[in-house]
Amino acid sequence: MSGKYSGKVALITGSSRGIGRHLALALAAEGAAVVVNYRRNAELADNVAAEARRLGGQAISVKADVEDPDGIMGLFDAAAAEYGRLDYFVNNAAAAAFKKIVDLKVHHLDRSHAVNLRPFVLGAQEAVKLMDNGGRIVAVTSYGSMRGFASYAALGPYKAAVESFIRYMAVEFAGYGINVNGVNGGLIQSDSLDYFYGMPGMAPMERVLETIPLGRPGTVADMANAIEFLLSDKSAYMTGQTLVVDGGMTVAAAPYYHQVTEPLTLPDRPTRG
Ligand SMILES: NC(=O)c1ccc[n+]([C@@H]2O[C@H](COP(=O)([O-])OP(=O)(O)OC[C@H]3O[C@@H](n4cnc5c(N)ncnc54)[C@H](OP(=O)(O)O)[C@@H]3O)[C@@H](O)[C@H]2O)c1
Repeated sequence: MSGKYSGKVALITGSSRGIGRHLALALAAEGAAVVVNYRRNAELADNVAAEARRLGGQAISVKADVEDPDGIMGLFDAAAAEYGRLDYFVNNAAAAAFKKIVDLKVHHLDRSHAVNLRPFVLGAQEAVKLMDNGGRIVAVTSYGSMRGFASYAALGPYKAAVESFIRYMAVEFAGYGINVNGVNGGLIQSDSLDYFYGMPGMAPMERVLETIPLGRPGTVADMANAIEFLLSDKSAYMTGQTLVVDGGMTVAAAPYYHQVTEPLTLPDRPTRG
């Protein structure tokens, strides 16, 4: 089919659910060939691939644990075998132990590196080899890269390192015609958000939501739209940047409106004349 991404090949890690799934389907609906990756749930990933084909794109689903370097090689080998080349690599899969710093063991820290940082670098190395006509690399990060909050230390600092690698890759890969950028999400409604805020000792999600100026959690579509922008020609002159998609959460300073004015009341919107 013809579409904005007709002839383009995208590999998205962790695309059987959540943000990755939404992005895979959005690209496929515009004609892309997508490599759908998962670790455990084959049925979900196969469904995403089937839906991508129904929407008019091409798709394969590939089981690969990005924590395992051989898994990453297998994932890119599968993409190369099926499509021969690559235009977009989206480093999206993430996982960590949500624990207090004093409870983090060596194996938790090693795993955080192995799942959240190393796959971005190893994946980018493989992506460069397959991007024979330039390309785009986008990594998904989170507001834990910029802000500290309890039980997120095994992920937030690794996301900060991903954002740093984005800048380094942007400089080194520019000569290959490859732009490298990131999308940093705030509170995005997904399985992982419900899991994180369901942990014992976490602040109630409603209290955190009150600090978001736009007054709602983000959606997987909000995130996928920003990633899509960074994959598209509309961001051709951007590289090394990380866009923040958080409803204004990280720019708002305490005390928040709801803490000083209950309920939030704003003056009527001014009108002209
Ligand atoms: N949700 C939020 O509030 C939020 C906010 C900011 C940023 N983010 C970031 O957005 C990205 C996606 O998050 P999400 O909430 O959309 O995730 P999600 O709904 O929990 O889905 C996670 C996806 O990653 C896959 N996955 C997990 N570990 C993997 C591994 N080791 N190897 C390969 N695939 C693996 C899962 O496959 P299986 O099911 O088969 O394991 C699934 O497809 C992450 O980088 C996350 O940090 C999320």
